[in-house]
Amino acid sequence: MTKLSVNVNKIALIRNARGGNLPNLSQVVLDCEKFGAEGITVHPRPDERHIRYQDVWNLRPQISTEFNIEGYPSPEFMKLVLSVKPHQVTLVPDAPDALTSNAGWDTLTHADFLRDTVDALHEAGIRSSIFVGTDLKLIEQAAKLGSDRVELYTGPYAEAFEKHGAEALLPFVKAAEVARKCGLSINAGHDLNLFNLKAFHEAIPYVEEVSIGHALVADALYLGLEKTIAAYKECLK
Ligand code: PXP
Repeated sequence: MTKLSVNVNKIALIRNARGGNLPNLSQVVLDCEKFGAEGITVHPRPDERHIRYQDVWNLRPQISTEFNIEGYPSPEFMKLVLSVKPHQVTLVPDAPDALTSNAGWDTLTHADFLRDTVDALHEAGIRSSIFVGTDLKLIEQAAKLGSDRVELYTGPYAEAFEKHGAEALLPFVKAAEVARKCGLSINAGHDLNLFNLKAFHEAIPYVEEVSIGHALVADALYLGLEKTIAAYKECLK
């Protein structure tokens, strides 16, 4: 069964636009779980333009599903996650000013850094996931670094699926097979939506978890949060 982890960064972004507490992030997180989300993802960035470091602390005790924190493992980020101890940390190579994550790690070039980071997470009892593209060498290397999981960067899948349909799945199916053979569990995320998720799930049903934020929040404007979460879960059946 593939779990749905709802990325709530966009909720924090709307709240921050006015400086108050509307929408109330804690309440939204509780409601996502009530409506069927099997995990909550946050991606605190250094400028705190959406999720703030304090949000991560506030959410920790109330999350009753799985807590996934994504981000670039800067000293500040590592200090935060090693004290908060979520279930999973997803390591993302994005620069501080990146609009959103737009590439996976070069796990060969950054091997020493990633190995040390994964070791530090494991010492704290936290599952590690490394954000990767579909380059098979880099996925094999993620396994050699000792990571528990990889998260496949599905941005290119979403773009190609719109233009070419099912053909877009091929590099991802191959990448997932290689990851699995290397002993890695697999997550996926970025630009997944109600149009492309079902095909992805059918092609790679053994993905452990998808984390979805942008499209899900946009859909909730029309459908409401409860129906939206149900619709995403329907794609994962
Ligand atoms: N995975 C990672 C590593 C991300 O950085 C993001 C965006 O914060 C997502 C998944 C979710 O992407 P989207 O908001 O497009 O659903």
